[in-house]
Amino acid sequence: AKEQAAVIILFGGSGDLARRKLYPAMFGLFQRGYLQKRFAVIGTARRPWSDEHLREIVVDAVKTMPGATLEQAQSFASHFYYQSHDVTDADHYITLKTLAAKLDDQYQVGGNRIYYMAMAPNFFATIAEHLKSEALLTDNGFNRLVIEKPFGHDYASAKALNDSITATFDESQIYRIDHYLGKEMAQAIMALRFANPMIENVWHKDFIQNIQITLAEAVGVEERAGYYEQSGAIRDMIQNHVMQLVADLTMAKPDSLTSEAVHKVKGDVFDHLHVYTPEEACDNFVRGQYTAAVIDGDAVTGYRDETGVAKDSLTDTFVAGKILVDTPDFEGVPIYVRTGKRLTRKSTQITVVFKPAKDNLFNTSDEPDTLTICVEPSEGFDLVLNGKKLGQSNDLIPENLAFRHDPKLAKQAPEAYERLIQDALQGDQTNFTRWTELAKTWQYVDSILDAWQNNTTMPEYPAGTMGPKESFDLLARDGNEWHWQP
Ligand code: BG6
Repeated sequence: AKEQAAVIILFGGSGDLARRKLYPAMFGLFQRGYLQKRFAVIGTARRPWSDEHLREIVVDAVKTMPGATLEQAQSFASHFYYQSHDVTDADHYITLKTLAAKLDDQYQVGGNRIYYMAMAPNFFATIAEHLKSEALLTDNGFNRLVIEKPFGHDYASAKALNDSITATFDESQIYRIDHYLGKEMAQAIMALRFANPMIENVWHKDFIQNIQITLAEAVGVEERAGYYEQSGAIRDMIQNHVMQLVADLTMAKPDSLTSEAVHKVKGDVFDHLHVYTPEEACDNFVRGQYTAAVIDGDAVTGYRDETGVAKDSLTDTFVAGKILVDTPDFEGVPIYVRTGKRLTRKSTQITVVFKPAKDNLFNTSDEPDTLTICVEPSEGFDLVLNGKKLGQSNDLIPENLAFRHDPKLAKQAPEAYERLIQDALQGDQTNFTRWTELAKTWQYVDSILDAWQNNTTMPEYPAGTMGPKESFDLLARDGNEWHWQP
C-alpha cells in the first residue's frame, strides 16, 4: 500500500522551518496519498499553544500550495496536536508518551514513530537522552530519528552529539538531513553520470580539467545573525551541502542504488579528501565578507552593520576553495567550490570543464567543452561543445545543447523536504548523511578554520557581486576561470 502510517513527533513545531518547509512537505505527501488517514503529528515547543492554534498555523502554511483547497488543508490540519514542552523536564516526556500512545491507537498507526528534531541544536542531545530514559520508543513498528542541521559546530561537538543520539538510536534509525540531497537536480546527478556511457567514460581525471560548484545566494544574513556569526559560510554551506555534491560528482559507480551501495562509494570520497597543511589551507581557501552597496536603487547594509553582527566580525559570508579528492579517478583534478550571501543572484550551478582536444586541427578556438548542471532555480543541463561555424570555413564556435525542465512541471514535482520525509517514512537512507561522512567533512573544515585563525585579514566584496577578488585569483593562478551563467 502507498499509505504510510506514523506518529510524527516534531520538536520545534512552532518554528520557522516547520512552517516554511515541513508542514508544506507533509501536506504534499497528504495530497499524493502517502499520508492519508493513519497519521498524526504532535508539534511540540515551549510556547503554550493549543491544538487549534497549531492547526490554524498549519492551514495557513499549506492552503496556498498548488492544488490545495481550504477543505483539504483543514482535513490535513485535523491530524495535528500541540504539546507545550520543556525539553529539559522529564515529566513532559511522560505526557508526550501518553499522547503519542493515544494517537497511535486512535489513528491505528501500529507503533511507527518519527522523532523529528527541528529546533535549536543545543537541545538535540537532551531530547535524545530523554527519549531513552523515559522510554518513548515503541517495541512494535519503527522508531526513526530525523535530525536537522547544524549537526555540530566542529568535529568534537558533532561527535558528542552523535554519541548522544546513538545511545538511543542505531545508525539504521538515524536520518540526518541535508536538504540539498532532496533537490531534483542533485538527485539527477547519478542518472546523468551512470545511465550515459558517453558521459561516464569521460568522467575521469584524464578528461576532466576541473569541476566547479557555486551555491550563490542573493539574501544577506537576514534575522539569523545569532546563528550565522557562530557559523559562517564554511560551516553553513561547505561542510554539508557542498561536500555532499562533491561526493555525488566524484564517487565511483555504486553496485546498485541501495543506500548501502551508494554510501559505500560516497564514503570512499570522504576518506580521500586531500587535507591541507595550514599554509596550503590559506592558499587554497579564501573567505570574504559583503560590504554595503546600492542594488537596483536600494541601499543594502554591509555585513558588519547588520543587526546582531559584531563590528569587527571575522565571520565568513563567502568562501571559495579548491578541494582535491585523492582517488585514482580524480587525483589532481581541482574541484573549485564557492558559496556566499549577497551574491549576484540565487543560483546553484555545477560546471564540469573538460580538457581540450589533443592535436586540435582547427586552431580557432581553445574553448573547452563544458557540462553545466543547473540545480536551481532553473533545472537542467547545458552541454557546450565546439561546433563548426556556419558557412564555408573550418572555424569553430561554441554551441550549446541546452535542456531545461518545464518550470510548470518542475514546480509540481515534490520539493526537497517532501522527498526526504517520504524517504524517512519508507525507511530509505540513501539521501541522508552518515556519521562517518560528517566526521570526515568536519575534520576537513576544522583544518581550514584552524588555518584561518592566525589570519585576521578579511577580504571584502560589495553586496551584489560574485565575491572578493581573491576568489577569482584562486582559479587564475591555475590558469582557470569561474564559469557562471549570470
Ligand atoms: C541552509 C543554510 O542550510 O541552506 C542557509 O543554513 C541557506 O543559510 C540555505 O540559506 C540555502 O538553501 P536553499 O535550498 O535555499 O538553496
